[in-house]
Amino acid sequence: MQPETKPSHTEVEHVKAKSDYLRGTLAESLNNTLSGALNPEDTHLIKFHGSYQQTDRDLDSERKIQKLEPLYSFMIRVRVPGGVATPAQWLRMDALADQYANGTLKLTTRQAFQLHGVHKRHLKSAIRGFNEVLLDSLAGCGDVSRNVMCSPNPEESRVHAAVQEVARSISATFTPRTTAYYEIWLDGQPVDKSQPFATHKPGGADEEPVYGNTYLPRKFKIALAVPPQNDTDVFANDIGLIAIEKDGELAGFNVAAGGGLGMTFGEPQTFPRLADMLGFVETKDILKVCEAIITTQRDHGNRENRRLSRLKYTIERMGLATFKREVEVRSGVSFQPEKPYRFEGTGDRYGWTPAAGGRFHLTLFVEGGRVADTPSYQLKTALRVVATVHDGDFRLTGNQNLIIGNISPEKRPAIEAILEKYGVLEHTFRQTALRQHSLACVALNTCSQAFAEAERYLPALLDKIDDILRETGLEQEAITIRMTGCPNGCARPYLAEIGLVGKAVGKYNLYLGAAFNGERLNKLYREMLDEEGILRELRPLLQAYAGERNPGERFGDFCIRKGWVQATTHGTNFHG
Ligand code: HEM
Ligand code: SF4
Repeated sequence: MQPETKPSHTEVEHVKAKSDYLRGTLAESLNNTLSGALNPEDTHLIKFHGSYQQTDRDLDSERKIQKLEPLYSFMIRVRVPGGVATPAQWLRMDALADQYANGTLKLTTRQAFQLHGVHKRHLKSAIRGFNEVLLDSLAGCGDVSRNVMCSPNPEESRVHAAVQEVARSISATFTPRTTAYYEIWLDGQPVDKSQPFATHKPGGADEEPVYGNTYLPRKFKIALAVPPQNDTDVFANDIGLIAIEKDGELAGFNVAAGGGLGMTFGEPQTFPRLADMLGFVETKDILKVCEAIITTQRDHGNRENRRLSRLKYTIERMGLATFKREVEVRSGVSFQPEKPYRFEGTGDRYGWTPAAGGRFHLTLFVEGGRVADTPSYQLKTALRVVATVHDGDFRLTGNQNLIIGNISPEKRPAIEAILEKYGVLEHTFRQTALRQHSLACVALNTCSQAFAEAERYLPALLDKIDDILRETGLEQEAITIRMTGCPNGCARPYLAEIGLVGKAVGKYNLYLGAAFNGERLNKLYREMLDEEGILRELRPLLQAYAGERNPGERFGDFCIRKGWVQATTHGTNFHG
């Protein structure tokens, strides 16, 4: 296929078009030992391979003074469709974090693993390392369908198993077909032939039947959820699929489209937006419908301005009715009226739950999704030891937490003893419910977009907010709080009852009024607050909530009832 770009298209579009299916000069960039960085155009392409080139921002100014190039390193995002990994995969990721990265694993808000601080010379070894246990980073980032999320739901249910299966098939269907990934990273030899990207002959002509050679205009996210839990925040995704059950079996999905949370400060034409409901579709038609939504975005999405290129803006431009018709025509499937469902919350349910076949799931709180060893808490070691005895699975949740899944009754005592020894259960249960419902993106020191701290700072801020909760008796009240270092919104702050978005070093915008179940965005309440300001603003709000809430009333709903913010009913009125 010939490049189809126009002069008005963005630089990234031109880079994709001439990249020969995502090769560019990546091989050459990797061989250049004089710099820790890639050729500039390859920095766009490597995202499709699941990696971002970053600098250590803590060291940037010092190195500039010393006339050194920034300390370049790479983040690698390893896909885990539906979030389910084996103990062998866990052990390998744990080892790779020590061997090639910064000694920690980040469990992301989209159920992927992230390695941070990988130097260019180690990229290939790291990628080969996880490929050997059948994990890959292809389409971890970039303008393609990324890691497909699915409720890892710790519940004994045939519907959950069926929905996981659909998630895996969506993931496989929309994985890019280019052979560049294993050509560049695996010397042309995929380790396992069953991997989706290995279905194409090395050296054979590349073809991208769904994407074409310029891929999508922008990133594309798909998530599935099983009511009553919205633990994948389905409405934050380009495609959100809500499982509908009939007589204990999966009947199909309510399909929502056009969600996406990123925005840019000072550009009100950009806004977070929840997905619109298109209607119900039977399971057998779901791949056709997803493909039609993806190709509609491929053909109608904006390729001239990356800030306005997500599906949410395409739908705004086309109009929902026209978009829906287009999807029906392309797929040959008519949407039925949406089926009734009810979401209770976006959080995880901590602790033990029964699983199929007499097994158990155990959901653990992982603060900021960071699996690390610190002097006071050796979580990474604890989980490594668990992985050596565990015969079930590890499930990454969309809330940066971890489920030790399918624990057999025989292994349960050993696993409990390990967790007890390292204080892991105690760590989960001694937290306030607010902290248990917190998310923080990576932000400084690695993310180039960050204006402010998030993951490194939120725990300390929560210590202070916890004091207010204790004073007001709200320790056990589940309230969602999410912090990001910039308005891109990677930890979904606009869906938090308390959203904090970094605007400058130490300064955050405070957003209130989102729904606890992920069905309503929040709204700006105060701008540019420092820590003192955040605490000063939150204290009276929490005091009022403690004294005046109706039975069962959520904090987000209370903020609206009190008139502190107006309800955001659609992305287009997020800004007021
Ligand atoms: C213009 C928009 C965006 C840009 C440029 C962007 C860029 C980035 C970068 C550079 C990182 C890596 C940070 C690091 O690991 O050091 C990151 C992390 C991440 N992003 Fe985004 N992002 C954008 C929007 C979003 C949105 C809207 C979401 C989802 C709602 C999202 C989901 C994630 C996730 C899950 C991570 C992993 C880290 C975590 O769990 O916090 N991103 N993003
Ligand atoms: S929200 Fe901003 S600061 Fe945080 S990871 Fe995403 S891009 Fe980086």
